[in-house]
Amino acid sequence: MRPGFAGVSFSTFLICVAIPSIAISQSINGAVIANTCAGCHGTYGASVDTKIPPLAGQTTDELVSTMLAYRDGSRKGTIMNRVARAYNEEEIRAIAEYFASFPKENSE
Ligand code: HEC
Repeated sequence: MRPGFAGVSFSTFLICVAIPSIAISQSINGAVIANTCAGCHGTYGASVDTKIPPLAGQTTDELVSTMLAYRDGSRKGTIMNRVARAYNEEEIRAIAEYFASFPKENSE
């Protein structure tokens, strides 16, 4: 074995361990996922388009149950059924907690 080989493979091992854990923690970060909603629902859930309902001011449970209803098709929408199917329950809860943290005044 060449000198230093063990050191190189150990740092490769560290990189392999570190990168997946970063990816996992981002996948359930509500603020990160909420960026995909902000284009339509506005930053901090305050929609500017009157056709798109604001999310700020709703509770976590209201947002979670609406998203689950869109996901299973029991609530119909033009776009939200497709959007909701992209997320698992843990992600939906994280997004809901994020938007529920903003007051209703944001959306008025
Ligand atoms: C392409 C635009 C668009 C995107 C992106 C989008 N939405 Fe929506 N959302 C809508 C529209 C339009 C409605 C009204 C229902 C419908 O037509 O589907 C809606 C309705 C909702 C409602 C119901 C609100 C209420 O009070 O009735 C919730 C909750 C919601 N969206 C959450 C989200 C979340 C969370 C995301 C991100 C994961 C998201 N939306 C991404 C356009 C969008």
